Amino acid sequence: MEDQDFSLFIKRIKEKTAIDLSQYKEAQMKRRLTTLRTKHGFTTFHTYMDALQKDPQLMNEFLDRMTINVSEFWRNPNRWQALEQRFLPELMKESPRLRIWSAACSTGEEPYTLAMILDHLSVLDRSSILATDLDHKVLEKAQSGNYLDRSIRDVPPAYIKRYFTMSDDLYAVQGLLKKAVKFKQHNLLHDRFEGPFDLIVCRNVMIYFTEEAKQQLYRKFSQALRPGGVLFVGSTEQIFSPAQYDLETVETFFYRKRRG
Ligand SMILES: C[S@@+](CC[C@H](N)C(=O)[O-])C[C@H]1O[C@@H](n2cnc3c(N)ncnc32)[C@H](O)[C@@H]1O
Repeated sequence: MEDQDFSLFIKRIKEKTAIDLSQYKEAQMKRRLTTLRTKHGFTTFHTYMDALQKDPQLMNEFLDRMTINVSEFWRNPNRWQALEQRFLPELMKESPRLRIWSAACSTGEEPYTLAMILDHLSVLDRSSILATDLDHKVLEKAQSGNYLDRSIRDVPPAYIKRYFTMSDDLYAVQGLLKKAVKFKQHNLLHDRFEGPFDLIVCRNVMIYFTEEAKQQLYRKFSQALRPGGVLFVGSTEQIFSPAQYDLETVETFFYRKRRG
C-alpha cells in the first residue's frame, strides 16, 4: 500500500515536472521526502501531491529538498590542480577553442572555479563554459555570484585577491568570470545533451541516481565528448568498467574518450 502510494507519487511528479524520481536511489529519496511530507502533517504521498499541485510554495520547497545543492570552490583541490596542470594544457593543444560543460553545477562554484583556472592559463577568452542544473533557484544564486566565506575556503589566496571583491560578509565574483559562464536550466535525465565538448565536469550528482540511470548518463556523456575529450567526476563516483562507454581512466576521477 505504502509502496503503491510512493509509486503513484513518482508518476504524478513526472507528469507535472518532467522530473523522474524513479531514476534516483529509492531508499534515500523516499526517506528525504517522507520527512518533508510528515513535517507538513500529510500522512500519505497522495494527499501531499494534491497539496503540491495547489500550492506553488510547497512545490518549490519540494523541488528544493529533492535536490542536494551543496558545493564549494575547488572542491577536492588536488584534482583541480591536475586539471590545471595536466588536462587543460593537453586539451588546449588539440582545440583552438575549448568547449566545457559543468553539469549539475548547483550554485556556480564549479564553473567559476573553471573560469578562474582558464583565466590563469590565459585561455578564458578562447573558452566557452556552459553550466547547467535542474534547479532554477540554484541557478539564480549562481548568476548573482555572491558567496559566503565558507564556500571559498579552498580557493588559493592569490585567486581570492584577483577574482573576488568583498562587501559586507559576501565575496562577489568578478564580472569577468560572470561573463564567461552561460547558465542554463537542464535536466540530465530528460533533456538533450549538447556537444561536442572538450571537457565535461559532472561531480557529486551521479551518487543520487540508480545504476541504470548512471549507465545511461555515462553513455550520453561519452557521446557528448569529442574523441580525446575528458570527463571529470566526483570523488566517490569512479566509473565501473569505463571501456563499455568508450572511456579510459587517465588519472583518479578523470576519464578520456577513446580516439577511435
Ligand atoms: C551536490 S550538488 C553538486 C554540485 C557541484 N557539481 C559540486 O560537485 O560541488 C548536486 C546538484 O545536482 C543537481 N541535480 C539533481 N538532479 C539533477 C538532474 N536530474 N539534472 C540536473 N541536475 C540535477 C541538484 O540540483 C544539485 O544542484
